[in-house]
Amino acid sequence: MDRRTFCITLPGLGAICTITSSVISQDKSILHQRRIPSSGEEIPAIGLGTWIQFDVPNGDPEMDQLQTVLQQMMDHGGKVIDSSPMYGRSEVNVGQLTQELRNPDHFFYATKVWTSGKEAGKQQIAQSMARMQRDQLDLLQIHNLLDWSTHMKTLIDLKSSGKIRYIGITHYTDSSHHQLADVIKSNPEVDFVQCNYSIEGTHADEFLFQTAQEYDVAVIINTPFNGGSLFRRVGGKDLPDWASDLDIRSWGQFFLKFIISHPAVTCAIPGTSNPKHLIDNMGAARGKLPDMEIRKVMKDYFNKV
Ligand SMILES: NC(=O)c1ccc[n+]([C@@H]2O[C@H](COP(=O)([O-])OP(=O)(O)OC[C@H]3O[C@@H](n4cnc5c(N)ncnc54)[C@H](OP(=O)(O)O)[C@@H]3O)[C@@H](O)[C@H]2O)c1
Repeated sequence: MDRRTFCITLPGLGAICTITSSVISQDKSILHQRRIPSSGEEIPAIGLGTWIQFDVPNGDPEMDQLQTVLQQMMDHGGKVIDSSPMYGRSEVNVGQLTQELRNPDHFFYATKVWTSGKEAGKQQIAQSMARMQRDQLDLLQIHNLLDWSTHMKTLIDLKSSGKIRYIGITHYTDSSHHQLADVIKSNPEVDFVQCNYSIEGTHADEFLFQTAQEYDVAVIINTPFNGGSLFRRVGGKDLPDWASDLDIRSWGQFFLKFIISHPAVTCAIPGTSNPKHLIDNMGAARGKLPDMEIRKVMKDYFNKV
């Protein structure tokens, strides 16, 4: 790991310099990977969300575009694909489109259980495996904590029988962070927590990340662009001059680098159906990353835009 002095100059504030250990490599070709604490396995710090983006009718011309998104993801080293039975045809389309690629096993398949009751949960998980065309799912998460204590037992059984590799819990609101933390504390079987976090909304930083770190739980960030509203907020405004010092070429990379540079964060899953956006997002997993001090500067800058 390269340690060096990193300086950025801000109008009215002068130069801010810090010794940073976050310059992982000068080689921009290296993809930032993060360790899953419970296993030591590494996954790329940027993945793909499929909520609205992959809920496309069978035979729709947009399927070709989604195929390109997945192909580009593979070509750029991305692995984590997040879906849910809540996302309409997303699981089916992920299954079909990945099977059409040369190596479907390249990906890390994450989906969720989103129903009430033990039998309904088991049936839904079996259905997800069939829809995603996988004999084993990498990560099965309890969506929005719905009937979580029932499904936790099922997931523990599925993990011990090898049908799933990791257990997760998810939510998307700030008000859930306390409960997510409580579930982590009382259930050592939890490998992943998925939550909302962005440069605009950092509640998880205060109320969830520390627990995840203490209990060796990996953190996936959903809605990293706050559903896309961050782009509307910055409108057509230019990036700050110093963004290029962090190998940031777009607002998308600005937002994502802010997230994945947090030490608690394992992976962010921006949703996109646009191959250009996919490449842009994967670019955030390469090059320099800000340290804690520079992250504060990024947040201050964003708040003033
Ligand atoms: N409770 C839960 O478990 C939960 C809740 C919410 C979300 N999630 C997961 O998190 C994923 C991400 O959340 P999200 O999709 O709601 O919101 P998001 O990732 O914050 O934002 C997606 C929006 O940003 C746009 N976008 C993506 N990359 C871009 C780029 N580089 N430049 C400009 N625009 C870009 C997308 O449009 P384009 O398609 O045009 O790129 C889309 O409109 C979901 O897909 C889902 O997998 C989970």
